[in-house]
Amino acid sequence: MGSGSGFGKVILFNEHFVVYGIPGIVSAISSVAQAEVSRTGEGISLKDARKGAEGYTEKKKTQQKESIERMLRAMGINSEKTSLEIWLGGNLPGFSGIGASAASSVAIARAIAEEFKMDLPDERINEIAYEAEKAYAGTPSGIDNTAATYGGLIWFKKTMSGGSNIVERLTLEEPVEIVIGNTGIVADTKEMVAGVAARKEKDPERYNLLFEQAGELAFEARTALKAFDLRKAGKLMNESHRLLREIEVSCEELDCLVNLAQEQGAFGAKLTGGGGGGCMVALTPSKDLQEKVATTIEDEGFEVLRTKIGV
Ligand code: MEV
Repeated sequence: MGSGSGFGKVILFNEHFVVYGIPGIVSAISSVAQAEVSRTGEGISLKDARKGAEGYTEKKKTQQKESIERMLRAMGINSEKTSLEIWLGGNLPGFSGIGASAASSVAIARAIAEEFKMDLPDERINEIAYEAEKAYAGTPSGIDNTAATYGGLIWFKKTMSGGSNIVERLTLEEPVEIVIGNTGIVADTKEMVAGVAARKEKDPERYNLLFEQAGELAFEARTALKAFDLRKAGKLMNESHRLLREIEVSCEELDCLVNLAQEQGAFGAKLTGGGGGGCMVALTPSKDLQEKVATTIEDEGFEVLRTKIGV
């Protein structure tokens, strides 16, 4: 049997914009997806035992199947002639927006590699997970699988000419508490990414302006995080949410979670991931502030995850 894991993530700045080569900032969270794989059974079977995965798995079933086929192809394994039993678990819930798909792809790729005694470096695991991500996101930037593979806080820029992406590790003075609030809506990242592409094509002037603003914001955010200026970083997260609203990837429930977090004193809050449902991330330095924001969101009937960035 082979086993492996992959990190969950929150995108702090510039989801969607990263697909077009605008820099983004992502942090892994301490929750992980875990996979175990054995060459037993008949055909390819998958048991998804992740918490909160019921609705998620149902909705993502077709994409999950495609992602595993893509992964096997990328690893040079013939799915027609192979029997695999895949088990998926870990403490990363199956919420949309926190990299559950990329984390599971990395975990499964590592587990398959171990089962087939392939000695694959992280760089190769990342490439394989990127192939698998295409099933979930259509034209992914690569930010999710990069965070899932390497962990930590990362400055990411997709290289549009096809070369290697820019991946730079950032460090925080110390880890910072965040709250992730789940709208409970399982969103389709592929549709969200395609929606942005269609609107961008229809209104290039307006979108180019928004994309320019997103680019500037990324550099300001990087400076703020490096200086550990969390107030500033939080304000920029609010600004990032505004830009994401402008490109129409937020929804009523996400805006509601962002407002709740801001009202409770979060330094900043925004949607995280593909949007259209899924999750919101709030920057809540200190245990007390984290608890205040988290319980308020829970009292409104939403699920939360209390975790840290920059671990
Ligand atoms: C999804 O977590 C992030 C998106 O920007 C898609 C991607 O970058 O692959 C929406």
